[in-house]
Amino acid sequence: MLSDKLKEETKQNHQILEKALVGRLKSIRSAQEYAGLLKLFYGYFGGLETQINKTIDGSLLTDSTQRRKTQAIADDILALGDGIPAKATGNYLPRINDHLEALGALYVIEGSTLGGRIISKMMQQQLGFNKGMSFFSGYGDKTEQMWGTFKQALNNQAQTPGQEAVVIAAANETFLKFGEWFAKAH
Ligand code: HEM
Repeated sequence: MLSDKLKEETKQNHQILEKALVGRLKSIRSAQEYAGLLKLFYGYFGGLETQINKTIDGSLLTDSTQRRKTQAIADDILALGDGIPAKATGNYLPRINDHLEALGALYVIEGSTLGGRIISKMMQQQLGFNKGMSFFSGYGDKTEQMWGTFKQALNNQAQTPGQEAVVIAAANETFLKFGEWFAKAH
């Protein structure tokens, strides 16, 4: 199934990104530093979602718009008293020109809700407050369920090995470009 292949074939890029993030996460001790992290996510996910909105076939993924993260991240940044940065554009983003490429990027965004549970716990411990945590809290205790329904929808859409390869390549590029975006901001 496509969801299993995606997991397997993006594993390495997930690990690289996770490693880069964990170092930074561990050093966060203030609301300002935490807002800086959220601004990185806002820029990248905001740019991604702009492209996804242009290319996704909403009739094939009916709850897609409810899953958008840009607004939640913006709300969190504002709750911490910081300002909203620009969104990534052009070469800072992976190529998302059609529905299958949009699915690959969405896989990465949706999957971030799984790691997000770990990140929000870490942040609450290090900061001693839980303000501005809506994005990293994902879907709360519905996270598993939402991930399951997303994977089901995904598996119904790429029908051929060629189509699967397009989704997988887009997901890998989405991980890689996030790493570059992240490194650029240091
Ligand atoms: C400190 C940072 C992170 C940690 C500790 C982390 C941890 C995890 C863990 C434990 C899982 C497996 C959860 C499960 O199977 O129930 C997971 C899955 C996943 N994460 Fe992360 N993650 C992090 C950051 C990210 C980020 C920033 C993204 C995307 C931009 C991401 C994308 C994904 C994806 C797509 C999956 C799904 C893999 C699958 O197909 O099962 N993760 N992560």
